[in-house]
Formats: sequence, C-alpha cells, structure tokens
Amino acid sequence: MQPSFLKLVSLLLAASSVSARTVFSAITVNGVEEGHGVAVRVPTSNAPITDLTSSDIICNTDFIQPVSDVVASVPAGGVIAAEFHHTSAGYVGPDPADPLDPTDKGPVLAYLAAVPDATQTDVSGLEWFKIFEEGLNPSTHQWGSDLLFINAGYVNITIPSCLKAGQYLLRVEDISLADATSYPGAQFYMSCAQIEVTGGGDAAPETVSFPGAYTSTSPGITANIYSDTTYSPPGPAVFTC
Ligand SMILES: *[C@@H]1O[C@H](CO)[C@@H](O)[C@H](O)[C@H]1NC(C)=O
Repeated sequence: MQPSFLKLVSLLLAASSVSARTVFSAITVNGVEEGHGVAVRVPTSNAPITDLTSSDIICNTDFIQPVSDVVASVPAGGVIAAEFHHTSAGYVGPDPADPLDPTDKGPVLAYLAAVPDATQTDVSGLEWFKIFEEGLNPSTHQWGSDLLFINAGYVNITIPSCLKAGQYLLRVEDISLADATSYPGAQFYMSCAQIEVTGGGDAAPETVSFPGAYTSTSPGITANIYSDTTYSPPGPAVFTC
C-alpha cells in the first residue's frame, strides 16, 4: 500500500475513535419492529454521559420531540431487542462506526423500573433492577459491544417471566471503556423504552437507584480494555426468576 493511503487510513481511524458514539433508538418486541423512536425516548445527541452523579445517567437527556407516547406491550417472558445506531437518526446507511466504533469496547446492560405510567416525564427516584448484562467473555474475548457490532446494533433482552404485570421503563445501556483507566473516563450511552408487561407473576426484585448504582469507585467503572483479561460490569447482579 502507498504511504499516503496508510496515512489516510490512520487519520480516518483517529477521527472515528474520537466520534465513537451510539444511541439506542428503537425496539423490536418478539421480533416485531416498533419503528424508530416509537416507545423509546431518543436523545438528540449521541454524546456520552460521563458524570455518574448527574440525573442524565437515568434515561439520558434532551430528547427528540415529540417524545413517543406509545407504550409497547410485551408478555412476561418475551424478548425485546434494543437497537443501537451511531446517531440518533437510527440506521441511515453503511457507516463503519454503526452501530458503534468497534474499538469502543465495553459492556451492554439493561435495567427495568416499575412506573405508574411509562410515559411519565419524571424519572427521578425510580427503583431499578438489572435484567441483562454482557461484559467480557473470557473464552471468546468478546465484549458486549462486540456482540452489538456483530449483530448490527441489536441486543436481545428477555423480560423475566415472573415479573409483575404493569408498566415499566426499560433502560438499555452501552458503556465504552476505551478511555476508562480513571474516572471520569467511561462513556455511558443509554435510552429508556416505555413498556407494559402482561401476564407474569409476583416477583419483587431487589433494586438500586440512578444516580447512585454506579460511583467513581464501583467495580467496572474503570478498566483497561487493552490489558484486562477479566471484567465485571457495574451495578447489581442480574435478576432471575
Ligand atoms: C434475537 O432473537 C431473534 C428471534 O429469536 C433472533 O432471530 C436473532 O438472531 C436474535 N438476535 C441476536 C442478536 O441474538
């Protein structure tokens, strides 16, 4: 290859790692696409949240207006696929950094919080429990973010079958640890989907708060993706029935 071409490639790589960003902007319920921004509060910007004490860590901030008033119905035990893309516009065509820059390694996590009304704007004081996490698989060396990249931005999340029927916010999060050897450094990308769980049981999972569930000293908030061989995602254990 010619040196000028290599130089261009390295410039492009440098530029893409600076703008390595992602947005969760759509859901699929048991294989049915709801549509871009339907039942999801989509942030206008693909910039990360980095301050764990900010209320922006709950469901992100500055949403595309109008926010969807749809609450997606899902039977307990069903599967919601969260769909991430490079920008808040969703999939707009081939892009080497869609759904995210592949060098932007880190975990993917999902939480639920029961709410009286999934369209309520106030998200403070909610009680969250974790239902999914994909950190670093020690045998395949793949991160949650690698699976997101391989699967074109989709991550399947099973709604626990024993969950109480009712409305919930589903908070799905990708964390980039590319620059996370100290805090602040990790980059948090999350949105909240508005869902109604039908059927189910009477589970009472233990909960955590946002902000609060993650602090600057929590395990998994700092990491060295270039040398670490094991990794534990932040937050509580995954709730199972
Ligand atoms: C998600 O589940 C659907 C339906 O079972 C399946 O077709 C798809 O391959 C799964 N996607 C991923 C990324 O696992």
